[in-house]
Amino acid sequence: MAAADVTDTELMPDTERASIPLAQPVLGVAEEERVLAVLRSGRLSLGPLLREFEQAFAARVSAGHASAVSSGTAGLHLALRAVGVADGDEVVTSPFSFVASANAVLYERARPVFADIDPVTLNLDPGAAAAAVTERTVALLPIHVFGYPADMPALERLGLPIVEDACEALGAIYADGGPIGGRGHPAVFGFYANKQLTTGEGGMITTADAAVKAQIDSERNQGRAPDMGWLDHDRLGFNYRLSDIACALGLAQLERLDEMLAGRARVAALYRHALAPIEGLELPCPESGGNRRGWFVFVVQLPRGVGRDDTVLALGELAIPSKPYFPAIHLMSYYRERFGHREGEFPVCEDIAARSIALPFFPQMSESQVEQVAAALAEVLAR
Ligand SMILES: Cc1ncc(COP(=O)(O)O)c(C=O)c1O
Repeated sequence: MAAADVTDTELMPDTERASIPLAQPVLGVAEEERVLAVLRSGRLSLGPLLREFEQAFAARVSAGHASAVSSGTAGLHLALRAVGVADGDEVVTSPFSFVASANAVLYERARPVFADIDPVTLNLDPGAAAAAVTERTVALLPIHVFGYPADMPALERLGLPIVEDACEALGAIYADGGPIGGRGHPAVFGFYANKQLTTGEGGMITTADAAVKAQIDSERNQGRAPDMGWLDHDRLGFNYRLSDIACALGLAQLERLDEMLAGRARVAALYRHALAPIEGLELPCPESGGNRRGWFVFVVQLPRGVGRDDTVLALGELAIPSKPYFPAIHLMSYYRERFGHREGEFPVCEDIAARSIALPFFPQMSESQVEQVAAALAEVLAR
């Protein structure tokens, strides 16, 4: 099976002239064989591969349990419900994230209360999170941004239930040496086409708590408990199931996850070397304190005073795709209009967001492609 271009997403190039894709999944014979086996079996959903994928994934991240779902967003929704988030509650989270993390809070008619980020790790700042807690706060929702672990020990000291948005962080390691997803809180992974492991669309929730898994498994399947009969439902549920076809893709990729993660780490090291001479350009923070990044994207902050959107356009003219990544959530029109957010509320996030762009990044990227990107960026910034 040839590696296919991702066709549509926030992380895809705008220009047809692009010679290097922004992201590209690595699909091989193992995926083809596993998918064909599912097609031949006739068990396309709720078949044996669901449990096999869940168990293999849980083992991989040292979690007690795992539940596969139809997307990272669906996983965040069910995980927030599982820790008790409901109408009128507040959840403290980061405005520097993909919009899905805040949106999932809104699905339960709860309110995402933003707190500013750490300027180095770009993750939720525990001090700012503590200051944002009120008597209505029922949970914290830190995001392991760009695959770098959030400061979990400091957040845990706040004594609130936590849902970890690990959608970008498969393969990351917490400072204490444990894999992301194995800390016990519900942690949510995403398998969209640009992720470290992809099932096209999909996600996984890990947890140490069997009751949380039971609730999630029921709610992803229209509120049906495993021991209940066909069309018998004892709670509100959703259709957030992951098909066995998707599980087949996930299992094939889990088997060579180390290889795929090593490929991303290799490309990141090439970028660090190639971009080092560009003055004022800020690169992803180096790993420190035992934290290990699960490489997902390569995002740089442009020097202050450089126009981000102009840079993206100029790179595009040189056939190099890039994207602003992430824009600050609180400044998106929906959030501004609904909650009255304005510039200046979260200065660290706003400064970082205004300067951040994602460069082409995928495991099979060659050294010359990295050099081509670095040369183009150097040329554009020197103008
Ligand atoms: C930080 C973050 N949270 C949530 C999501 C949502 O995942 P999905 O696109 O699988 O719904 C993503 C992925 O795109 C993400 O990057």
